[in-house]
Amino acid sequence: MKIVSTIADTRAAIRATKRQGKTIGFVPTMGALHAGHISLVRAAKARCDYVAVSIFVNPTQFGPSEDLAGYPRTFDADCEKLISEKVDLLFAPSVEEMYPAGASTSVIAEGISERLDGHSRPGHFRGVTTVVAKLFHILDPNVAFFGQKDAAQAAIIQRMVRDLAFPVEIVVCPIVRESDGLALSSRNVYLSAAERKQALVLSRALREVETRWRAGERDSARLIEIARKVLLSEPEVRLDYIEIVDPASLEAIANISQPALVAVAAFVGSTRLIDNLLLG
Ligand code: PAJ
Repeated sequence: MKIVSTIADTRAAIRATKRQGKTIGFVPTMGALHAGHISLVRAAKARCDYVAVSIFVNPTQFGPSEDLAGYPRTFDADCEKLISEKVDLLFAPSVEEMYPAGASTSVIAEGISERLDGHSRPGHFRGVTTVVAKLFHILDPNVAFFGQKDAAQAAIIQRMVRDLAFPVEIVVCPIVRESDGLALSSRNVYLSAAERKQALVLSRALREVETRWRAGERDSARLIEIARKVLLSEPEVRLDYIEIVDPASLEAIANISQPALVAVAAFVGSTRLIDNLLLG
């Protein structure tokens, strides 16, 4: 695996690969890699000739009171995992490489970026679209792979790619979970043993919604009420939001007649976790 930290070296490697007629698959990450990230790498390997991964803890997508400084960084272990997956290129730039002094340009998908996490984390998706647009420019992938775990992020990236005609196909891969239902997340390492148990209430609430939907319930307000009751059974878990929205526009749906995204975010202790489920 070639490890590169500069934009120039990455572009040279990508150009050489493209000259050989190879397709490039790209998996952007912030590192602290787990089986969820690796599922994206495997999807890219299955689909593309050459797989590039980025590890960059992007400061612009963290709010002032969020966990940027403490975000888990496990670079050596990440490299080992990527090498054993036979990844071709790892782009791991510094903050200065990605944001030159005085950088003042950003990409924003208006409206949609204020929904779900965008509502609770103002400016978050602006940071995400800006860095992903830049990564797309640098790595020039044919296909880029994102996780359904961050459903709003996937929808916003798809909107940006469509609106700005990026020549890249976006593939969204299913959520990888622990056997007890907890969605894998780099932030799960923050959880104490007790919080780890409490965190299961998120996936439990979603499963309960799915059961009631399968039984014929189509009213979003009633389904949300059901989820809230489950979430209240863990008094230590503080709900941020639970919403039922259109998976592409992220706008609320009152009555479910088309595919719907049930998205939840909650604080378990001081750790903010998200999870979601697609209905239909
Ligand atoms: P990060 O949180 O590291 O996630 C990188 C990718 O892994 C995202 O597409 C995310 O949805 C996916 N992922 C995380 N957990 C997953 C799980 N349990 N199952 C399946 N996929 C999972 O998302 C980001 O980084 C950043 O916002 C980034 C896109 C890199 C821009 O900075």
